[in-house]
Amino acid sequence: MGIMLIYKAKALFLITRKSKMYHNQKVGGNTMTIKQFPKGFLWGAATSAPQTEGHSLENGKTKTTWDYWYETAPEKFNDNEGPENTSNLYEMYAEDCKRMQDIGLNSYRTSISWARLLPDGKTVNKEAVTFYRDYFKQIKANGVKPIINLFHFDMPMWLMNKGGWEAREAVDAFAFYAKTAFETFGDLVTDWTTFNEPIVHVEMGYLYDYHYPAIVDFKKAVQVGYHTLLAHAAAVSEFRQVLPTGKIGIILNITPTYTRSDAEADKKAGLASDLLNTKSFLDPAVHGTIPQGLIDLLAENELTPETQAEDKVLLQNTVDFIGLNYYHPRRVQAPKNPHVPAVMPEDLYAPYDWPEKRINPYRGWEIYPEALYDVAMMMKHEYKNLPWFVSENGMGVADEERFMDENGMIQDDYRIEFMVEHLNYLHQGIAEGSNCFGYHTWTFIDCWSWLNGYRNRYGFYRVDLNDHYKRTLKKSGLWFKEVSKNNGYDDVINVD
Ligand code: BG6
Repeated sequence: MGIMLIYKAKALFLITRKSKMYHNQKVGGNTMTIKQFPKGFLWGAATSAPQTEGHSLENGKTKTTWDYWYETAPEKFNDNEGPENTSNLYEMYAEDCKRMQDIGLNSYRTSISWARLLPDGKTVNKEAVTFYRDYFKQIKANGVKPIINLFHFDMPMWLMNKGGWEAREAVDAFAFYAKTAFETFGDLVTDWTTFNEPIVHVEMGYLYDYHYPAIVDFKKAVQVGYHTLLAHAAAVSEFRQVLPTGKIGIILNITPTYTRSDAEADKKAGLASDLLNTKSFLDPAVHGTIPQGLIDLLAENELTPETQAEDKVLLQNTVDFIGLNYYHPRRVQAPKNPHVPAVMPEDLYAPYDWPEKRINPYRGWEIYPEALYDVAMMMKHEYKNLPWFVSENGMGVADEERFMDENGMIQDDYRIEFMVEHLNYLHQGIAEGSNCFGYHTWTFIDCWSWLNGYRNRYGFYRVDLNDHYKRTLKKSGLWFKEVSKNNGYDDVINVD
């Protein structure tokens, strides 16, 4: 009887929620159905300190691995574009914050540069404090909620010289940095995240020879991932002491795994992919434990990291919310002739080329918006329906100047279509009860993107590559303003 009542109440909740999420509106002689989002939904954009600030070796900031790598191997960077100037936000932030309001952003995520705030890891850089305090005040003065992240791929060089995330010392160093940031800016910022896409520095730096230190070593990669996880948990622990009323989360890139078939071997490959790429950070962040399946997988492959007795307690520091960056899915199949034990992740799961895929030709990534519904359901059913938001989603396009009209505005309808398609599936997931509280695009203003430099543009504003101080609005910015204003949209794209 009791259970029946609970089911009925849940069903009623979902029906009410669904009905609130559609709104009929007369336009001309036609009735349009507006897709509505929950009250207070965050409409925003994300970026990071190293990709926007510029002044990379000035105003007291010391080098990160990116500054060092650019200095030693500039040819690796698209068009030799390095991290020194990026979008000059260090000088432009007051104007840029107004631009946020101009396109209706009600929230915005960026990061603090560790090497700017604590140039030697211990001493606070006063200039950095002045800059960030004023920047955060300007964001808020424009009616925008800041969500501030601590680490976006930018390892300080002083720590890298001691081994970076390979060294246990990095955990305490990060906890100290986090505590300093919470104490220094906690009166201005209530919503924080520890890492952006922590799996990226693991795989790009220690598996695929892409980011510095470009080591290829599965065991080291696992150790780096483990220390990063501990550093995240240590930062959450500091947060609970310093800002007990604030909210803290972590931003994870989600590449949901789809297997070639339901055959046992393919399913096993799919599970390995999920354990390594998704559950490795998501489970500890939400549930406070590393999944047993991952522990077993690492042991079977002689990849178990070095741990300490107190780690288990530290890992119990769970988050208040999750940010999920979604760009594309991961399709896998059973590997053909794998090394046992595994030497690379491909010995556990091999990539599968789905013949029906749709591709963004500029970035080479599959476009599969359906995954956002699957992710929404995963959060609902497997992760306690914890509050979460889409913390990055977007379409990178090269040579966007091709689409510029006679008034200088880039007509990026493809980007609007991409966002509508993804929002449709997100909307469906929310209507079915997933606790998603926002949608952030990548990105606000075209930004420098690591080795890719300015090749793929993602912004609502274009940066002129001949003059990085110059920004112009794209059509998608106008569209997003309407979406934010209406807290929803109709599927028919019309911003003219
Ligand atoms: C995201 C990262 O995964 O992808 C960003 O958080 C990055 O830092 C963005 O800029 C776009 O990447 P790319 O490789 O297409 O330039």
